[in-house]
Amino acid sequence: MIGFGNVGKELIRLFAEPKPRFPALVPDLLTITGVVTKSHGALYNPRGLSPSAILQTYRQDAGFDRNSSDFYSGEIPELLSDGDYDILVELSALNIRSKGEPAFTYIKQALQKGRHVVTANKGPLAFHFKELRELAKKSNRLLLFESTVMDGTPVFNLIKHGLRGASVLSFSGILNSTTNFLSELSERGISIDRALESARAKGIVEADPSDDLDGWDAAAKTAILCNVLFDSEITPFQIPRSTFEEIFAKDIRRSVEQKLRWKFICEGTRVNQKIHASVKLTPVDESHPFYRINGTSSVLRIEADSLAPLTIVQENPTVTDTAYGVINDLLEITNL
Ligand SMILES: NC(=O)c1ccc[n+]([C@@H]2O[C@H](COP(=O)([O-])OP(=O)(O)OC[C@H]3O[C@@H](n4cnc5c(N)ncnc54)[C@H](OP(=O)(O)O)[C@@H]3O)[C@@H](O)[C@H]2O)c1
Repeated sequence: MIGFGNVGKELIRLFAEPKPRFPALVPDLLTITGVVTKSHGALYNPRGLSPSAILQTYRQDAGFDRNSSDFYSGEIPELLSDGDYDILVELSALNIRSKGEPAFTYIKQALQKGRHVVTANKGPLAFHFKELRELAKKSNRLLLFESTVMDGTPVFNLIKHGLRGASVLSFSGILNSTTNFLSELSERGISIDRALESARAKGIVEADPSDDLDGWDAAAKTAILCNVLFDSEITPFQIPRSTFEEIFAKDIRRSVEQKLRWKFICEGTRVNQKIHASVKLTPVDESHPFYRINGTSSVLRIEADSLAPLTIVQENPTVTDTAYGVINDLLEITNL
């Protein structure tokens, strides 16, 4: 497992619960052999690391205990190449500027070595989906990423299993919980600094907050949806974005009085093989299906050729939802 931040810790916490919540995985089937971070150390033991020991060996600032017999001081590429593992769970931070690196390289390396990959990290898929999909196919391994869009809500599973044979024509949604949450607090007159503090406490702010505030997270999710649903190769850099700054140019209080809400709406459409995608700050009134999407909730509306438009709403998810999305993917692999 690469990354032991909000999501990584929650995943291990779920596995460490005294009464196993996912007995099909833990303790019988899944053995965690390694957990690595960028600057908080790493653990590796091919015989297995117990989830509760992983949590106990970690200190908030110091990271993994260097005196632990399982402490790993080597490099990540070495571990990916020579370590004992069947699945790479990639949960490192989103990195837009580097186009998803180094996670893209980690994932590529694991697939080339014949390992399955589960990731919640949008970067590699937003910039390199096609290449990774082809590589997974060639290696006859699964590349699963349910938690990248809507924090574990079954979006890709729904499309893969529930929309067999249908062609998606367009989608729209509110996909960045942080800006939705912050704009709601702005409606209540709360300052951006206090609102950000609150969002951080919920573990929903990206490692670099500008990824949320400048619309990059939303653009990355929009790119992933376009690439998966429309077989395109669009990147977040090609998607016009609204930024949170634009909220300050609006008279939010007056909008509330007029029963208008400003929402960051992600859209993607395919028309004659041409893809249009955007992340746009949009005023919605009470009649709009996204008007009542509050707090950290998300929504995705899908239009396909073979059925009436379909809307999925996720109500106020927490980091547990994201960790659950990873578990859902792990269960798919173990069911092979
Ligand atoms: N939080 C959510 O609810 C949520 C929802 C959906 C998707 N995601 C995605 O899931 C991923 C993890 O999110 P998070 O909230 O857990 O992030 P986070 O709290 O920032 O933790 C990121 C972890 O990745 C490690 N890391 C960063 N860069 C690395 C590198 N170059 N090599 C190895 N490890 C590296 C960090 O190491 P250090 O500990 O040393 O800093 C940290 O352990 C992100 O890609 C995020 O976009 C998160």
